[in-house]
Amino acid sequence: MSNSDAQSSTSDLRYVQYHGSKESTYLPAIRQLISKDLSEPYSIYVYRYFLYQWGHLCYMALDPSGNLIGVVVCKLEHHRSGTFRGYIAMLAVQEAHRGKGIATQLVCMAIDAMAERDADEIVLETEVTNTASLKLYERLGFLRSKRLHRYYLNGNTAFRLVLYLKAGTGMKRPQQLDDSGELPAQYGYSATSFDEIGVRDGHPVLEGSQVP
Ligand SMILES: CC(C)(COP(=O)(O)OP(=O)(O)OC[C@H]1O[C@@H](n2cnc3c(N)ncnc32)[C@H](O)[C@@H]1OP(=O)(O)O)[C@@H](O)C(=O)NCCC(=O)NCCS
Repeated sequence: MSNSDAQSSTSDLRYVQYHGSKESTYLPAIRQLISKDLSEPYSIYVYRYFLYQWGHLCYMALDPSGNLIGVVVCKLEHHRSGTFRGYIAMLAVQEAHRGKGIATQLVCMAIDAMAERDADEIVLETEVTNTASLKLYERLGFLRSKRLHRYYLNGNTAFRLVLYLKAGTGMKRPQQLDDSGELPAQYGYSATSFDEIGVRDGHPVLEGSQVP
């Protein structure tokens, strides 16, 4: 990435949906961006698995020259639990552009797209030490549902996070507190009952979950 790329302001960025016709332009850049920062070494087949089937759930932030600044990759399918489950598989923003809300924007676009397609919930895993990722997702209303011991190939432990988009008893508005003690921003969860939501170590968790 050139200096001028790093200097482009957030307002210069375009947020676009991935499309298969753009594979030769963007897939190499997506792989490079993701593989630089994520601990899991994904093969080209993993990227194609997601992008061939759910390219419409992949959003990219591009600078004015068309360089890839950030990307989110997702899928949405029926889960054995009976839910129509969205999954955020990959998320990364170029280091020089972090802390400006780019990932938040990408994740919000992905959540909107999955909600429009009638998703019941959205899940993901993130390393327990990934403060930026945890902060971002919890600000959007995601809850810690499980602690996955040594989940990653590098031996690191993960949290599974979940965002409920629907409730068995209808939509509920968010009532949980974020780190600052305020209601979370744009997205709420809807649990069957607010009793399901607890707070442990200052973080929202699903009661009865495996988060210690
Ligand atoms: C996680 C990542 C995508 C966030 O991208 P981003 O564009 O910087 O995210 P945003 O600016 O939308 O939000 C990041 C939030 O984390 C906070 N944050 C960033 N670094 C932090 C740190 N070291 N400690 C605490 N908070 C931190 C920011 O302040 C911001 O929160 P705020 O808006 O409440 O202030 C980016 O750091 C990244 O690409 N990391 C490497 C790949 C990765 O870890 N992906 C996630 C895997 S699940």
